[in-house]
Amino acid sequence: MPSTFLNPFQSPLILERYPVRARELLQAWDSADELILEHLSTQELSGKRILILNDSFGALSAALQNFDITSYSDSFVSSQALKQNTSGKIRSIHLLSELEGTYDWVLIRIPKNLSFFEDELCHLSAHLNTESKIVCGYMLKHQANSSFDLLNKIIGTTTTSLAKKKARLIFCGFDRGLRASPYPLAVSLDGFEKKFINHSNVFSREKLDIGTRFFLDHTTSDILDVHSILDLGCGNGALGIHAHRLNPNTHITFADESSMAIESARANFTAHFGDAANVHYQWTNSFEDGEIDSQDLVLCNPPFHQGTTVGDFIAHQMFNDAKRVLRKNGRLRVIGNTGLGYPKILANLFGKKPEIVAQNSKFTIVDVFR
Ligand SMILES: C[S@@+](CC[C@H](N)C(=O)[O-])C[C@H]1O[C@@H](n2cnc3c(N)ncnc32)[C@H](O)[C@@H]1O
Repeated sequence: MPSTFLNPFQSPLILERYPVRARELLQAWDSADELILEHLSTQELSGKRILILNDSFGALSAALQNFDITSYSDSFVSSQALKQNTSGKIRSIHLLSELEGTYDWVLIRIPKNLSFFEDELCHLSAHLNTESKIVCGYMLKHQANSSFDLLNKIIGTTTTSLAKKKARLIFCGFDRGLRASPYPLAVSLDGFEKKFINHSNVFSREKLDIGTRFFLDHTTSDILDVHSILDLGCGNGALGIHAHRLNPNTHITFADESSMAIESARANFTAHFGDAANVHYQWTNSFEDGEIDSQDLVLCNPPFHQGTTVGDFIAHQMFNDAKRVLRKNGRLRVIGNTGLGYPKILANLFGKKPEIVAQNSKFTIVDVFR
């Protein structure tokens, strides 16, 4: 639902989350955004180059849109919110390799995933000088002490603000020097010939997730002899690569909202099969723009959170999108924690009882047909 964001830089802004959900009352900013802007309102920003990292729904970028802003996000959802909430004047990037030049101010919303934070800080170290000012904002409930350690180690000595409305700022200058990122990782996965290239913000980047392993073990060639397969929420692409290996003639689509997931899936598919023509990558929200009647099989290991927002709303959207893009009699195969109740949600949506493919104490895999 749109709501009014009072801020020191612009007349009140009407901001919305993306995607817009009719019944959702969550606003598109929090008090850490307000605290960052309150601090900046006492600083001289004209003529300065400002970089914003991980602006969840574009609130910082919208308030500062009259300055020289670049906004980086790995998330498609955040990038769409930024587009929706700003006039389009802002330079929006989604690859860390697109950072350029030296930034005078860097405003960071500290991500939950500290590998990703470390990767961001290492890339940032090539774009700072001793005059650069770094301001990080966080909500107290989401903060881990190790983010201070990373800032101290990679960027410079930190100081903090007083807490206000459950948020706090960390300030630092740059005095540590250029730092190479340890990411992406090259990881061997049982059963795959090539090492996987896993970027820092990719699901289960250090090893194969046990749910994914269970899914792979129960996805055999009998269901893969189809024309088109969608790996929905693909992460590093393990499910789609497995499917393509068992049926090289199938057309495979990898979809994820994390740009790093798409880059990992691309690198991993190419390492296994070279430049195949029958593969497609889509950085998107769920599969919202997918063509109807375009897929025979959808493989889906849904997420339980987006950024810091936890819930099964993304799984719901994925199941809806899968139903829309499946051909008649097409199959959606889903894995979930046994307690999550996906079979009931799928039964209501498809109007048919899902079939249990495999189950252990932790996971259930089901098929449902359109
Ligand atoms: C549980 S992981 C599964 C990854 C991979 N398929 C596997 O089984 O190892 C869920 C994936 O969904 C992605 N995701 C989260 N929100 C999404 C959204 N709104 N649209 C598309 N993908 C999303 C995450 O980035 C993550 O890669």
